[in-house]
Amino acid sequence: MKLTTSVLLPLLPALSSSAAVRRQNGDGPQGSGDATQGDLGARPPPRFPFPVIEFPVAKETIVFNETRYIQPGEVFDGGMKRYERQEGSCNEQAEGTDADTVFNLLPGSTIRNVIIGKHQAEGIHALGDAWVENVWWEDVCEDALTSKGLNTQLRVIGGGARNATDKIFQDNSLGGKVNITGFYAETFGTFYQSCGNCLNQAKRNVTIENVIAINGTRMGIINPNYGDEYRIKDSQIVDVTRYVDKEIGNNVQTVPYTVGTGPDEKYALYNLTRDHITEFKGEVLNQYTPADPYPWLGEFWKGNSTAKL
Ligand SMILES: *[C@@H]1O[C@H](CO)[C@@H](O)[C@H](O)[C@H]1NC(C)=O
Ligand SMILES: *[C@@H]1O[C@H](CO)[C@@H](O)[C@H](O)[C@H]1NC(C)=O
Ligand SMILES: *[C@@H]1O[C@H](CO)[C@@H](O)[C@H](O)[C@H]1NC(C)=O
Ligand SMILES: *[C@@H]1O[C@H](CO)[C@@H](O)[C@H](O)[C@H]1NC(C)=O
Ligand SMILES: *[C@@H]1O[C@H](CO)[C@@H](O)[C@H](O)[C@H]1NC(C)=O
Ligand SMILES: *[C@@H]1O[C@H](CO)[C@@H](O)[C@H](O)[C@H]1NC(C)=O
Ligand SMILES: *[C@@H]1O[C@H](CO)[C@@H](O)[C@H](O)[C@H]1NC(C)=O
Repeated sequence: MKLTTSVLLPLLPALSSSAAVRRQNGDGPQGSGDATQGDLGARPPPRFPFPVIEFPVAKETIVFNETRYIQPGEVFDGGMKRYERQEGSCNEQAEGTDADTVFNLLPGSTIRNVIIGKHQAEGIHALGDAWVENVWWEDVCEDALTSKGLNTQLRVIGGGARNATDKIFQDNSLGGKVNITGFYAETFGTFYQSCGNCLNQAKRNVTIENVIAINGTRMGIINPNYGDEYRIKDSQIVDVTRYVDKEIGNNVQTVPYTVGTGPDEKYALYNLTRDHITEFKGEVLNQYTPADPYPWLGEFWKGNSTAKL
C-alpha cells in the first residue's frame, strides 16, 4: 500500500484543537503537579507537524561521552542531529541507570528536534516535569523515555520510535502523569507501561492522543490496584494485538500478574467508537500542520516511509 507522508506540504488542514496548546489544570491529589510547569497557555504553538509516519534522516551524529543533563528552564534544540553515547550499546535485559542515558531532563526542561541513535543503552530519563517535542528514536533499546520522580508531568508531542523490543514509554514516577500526543510508533512490545514493581507505587495517569501505532503487542500496561487511569483517543492503530493489559502491580519487585485486558469504567477509560480509534490504513487523518514551521525542518525527511502495512 502506498503511504501518504505529508511533511512539507500537508494536504490536510490543521486540527484546530491540537494547534492550541492549552493550559492543563491540575487534577487534584497525585496529579496536581501541573502548576510547577508554569502557564502552559503561554507556550507558543509547536513549529513541527505531527503525527508524521516517516523517520527523519540525520545529517550529523553527535556522540556524548557522558549523559547530557538538560537544565531547569533550558530548551535544548537538537536541530535534528542524531545523538548517541560513545560507549553505548544495547543490553535489553538490563534496566539502565541515569548514567546510561543520552539525555536526562531536569524539572522544567524541554528537549526538541532530536534523533536518538542506536548506540545507547537508555534513551531519555525525565527526572521531573518536562516537554519532549519532535524527538525520534531510531532503534529503542530497553525503553525510549522513562518518567521518574514525584508527581512528574510529562508531555510528549510529535516524534516517533521504532524497533522497541520491550517498551517505548515507561512511567516509574510516583503518582505521575503522561500526555502523549501525535507520536508515531513502529514495531514495539508495549507502547506505555506503568511500572508494575517499582519500590514506590501510586496512581499514574496517561493520555494517548492522535498517535499512529503499527505492529506492536499492546498499547498499554496499567496497575488497577494502584488506581491507574489510561485513556486513548483519536488514534490510528494497526497490527497491535491489545489496547491495554491490566496487571496487579506490587512494590516488592516481584513479577506482576495479569488480571484483565480491554476497557472498563474506572481504569482503562476508552471506547473505540466514542474515542475515534480506527485502523490505520496508510493515511494520516489528523495531522497538525504548524502555521510557522522551522524553515530547515523539511530537509530531514526524504519521502520514504518505512511503515509496512
Ligand atoms: C495533551 O497535550 C496536548 C498537546 O499539548 C493538548 O492539546 C491536550 O489537551 C493534552 N491532553 C490532555 C488530556 O491533557
Ligand atoms: C487523569 O488525566 C485526565 C486527563 O488530563 C484527567 O481528566 C483526569 O481527571 C486525571 N485523573 C486524575 C485522578 O487525576
Ligand atoms: C567527556 O568529555 C569532556 C570534554 O571533552 C571532558 O571534559 C570529560 O571529562 C569527559 N567525561 C568523561 C566521563 O570521560
Ligand atoms: C531491532 O532490534 C534488534 C534487537 O535489538 C536488532 O537486532 C535489529 O538490528 C534492530 N533492527 C532495526 C531495523 O533497527
Ligand atoms: C513486526 O514486529 C516484529 C517483532 O515484534 C518484527 O519481527 C517484524 O519484522 C515487524 N514487521 C514489520 C513489517 O515491520
Ligand atoms: C461506546 O460508545 C458508543 C458511541 O458513543 C456507544 O454506542 C457504545 O454503547 C459504547 N460502548 C460501550 C461498551 O460502552
Ligand atoms: C528514498 O527516496 C529517495 C529520493 O526520493 C529515492 O532516491 C530512494 O530510492 C528512496 N529509497 C527507498 C528505500 O525507497
